Amino acid sequence: MRGKKIIIGVCGGIAAYKIPQLVRLLKKRGACVRVALTDAGARFVSELTLATVSEEPLYRNIFPPTESEGVDYTRHISLGEWADALVIAPATANTLARLSAGLCDDMLAAIFLTLRPGKPVLIFPAMDGQMFLSPSVQRNIATLAAQGCSIVTPESGELASGICGIGRMPEPETLVAALEEALHERALSSPLYGKKVVVTAGPTREKIDGVRFISNYSSGKMGFAIARAAVERGALVTLITGPVHLSTPPGVERVDVESTAEMNAAAEGFFGSCDLFIGAAAVSDYRPAAPYEGKMKKDDEHIELRLVKNPDILAGFGRQKSASQLAVGFALETRTGLESARKKLTEKNLDLIAFNFFDRKTCGFDVDTNILTLIGSDGVATELPQLTKDEAAGKLLDAIEQRCLNNGL
Ligand code: CTP
Repeated sequence: MRGKKIIIGVCGGIAAYKIPQLVRLLKKRGACVRVALTDAGARFVSELTLATVSEEPLYRNIFPPTESEGVDYTRHISLGEWADALVIAPATANTLARLSAGLCDDMLAAIFLTLRPGKPVLIFPAMDGQMFLSPSVQRNIATLAAQGCSIVTPESGELASGICGIGRMPEPETLVAALEEALHERALSSPLYGKKVVVTAGPTREKIDGVRFISNYSSGKMGFAIARAAVERGALVTLITGPVHLSTPPGVERVDVESTAEMNAAAEGFFGSCDLFIGAAAVSDYRPAAPYEGKMKKDDEHIELRLVKNPDILAGFGRQKSASQLAVGFALETRTGLESARKKLTEKNLDLIAFNFFDRKTCGFDVDTNILTLIGSDGVATELPQLTKDEAAGKLLDAIEQRCLNNGL
């Protein structure tokens, strides 16, 4: 649960009073919890209580409280993209109907519609027993289950009306256990589960002298997103990274390096043992032949810096990989560089390459989105739209999972 981003959708049922306890239990396990409250939910549990226990603002309306604050064009979609899982508890008959119909009339509905495919949605209906068993509610539940939501049947017992019957929401501990199991199952079902994955990320630095270096604009965001997504699929991930300002995704083993030689040495240590090697680092192709000890003085009008070629880390892995190992790389090119990407795929003996052009606004270094074309060793190219780096990482891993399945790995 550590580091998992969970959204709890709280609807208008008496069981809403149990949700602050659920939030506390999840936070104790290290999850980040955000709450989306329906208007009816707010009549049962206060915004202040939920905001206090979650230590996050509450989410209710799609629209900002005052439009003069300026419009955030991603407000209605950013949470669905953020979340690793959505728990709707208690789920009322009304919200089940809204969600099964695809309505988008509050933040909870918007999150439901924009949650990334494959992320678990756990729904805990809680209401009067007759209402729960009514054909309308059962039809809506069946629709949501057919879409891949996990519907947890309510427990039987005394209901708020005093009547005994089905309809009670389970205790928060049971909700936590169900969520843990759902997150675990998702990982278990991935071909990457238990696989040893090495990802290189970020730039490398090549020393000119004691205080100066050659490097590039890479932020490391793409490599870190890949490492995070691979851990979520149950992989054992080692992230070998150049100097970046990013925190280590939970569950990832991180190795910090500076130069290409250091990155190469660290990577070589895993060549024989890893199942999958993903080269996402922007490696400096050349390094100064003779870095100056100390600080160079500006005495001369002209200086010449002689550079020598660095080892190609990914190609090194590609040369020696066995039939059960996969090699995946990126090809950073200008917009028209698809053929060059194909050439790199062949020359480095890769199973998959992500052709990545750069314009420094929507894709490439140090931006939050990317536009990739995935090319397999069979030559088939799949163009992806502009995506966040987290989404792009998910698509890349989907393609890798497919190759694992095709190759029986
Ligand atoms: N790569 C590597 N080691 C290097 C250079 C590149 O591991 N010394 C990897 C990158 O991580 C990436 C792929 O190889 O996955 C392609 O990198 P790219 O910079 O696009 O191409 P280069 O091979 O460096 O070729 P060029 O700079 O001529 O385009």
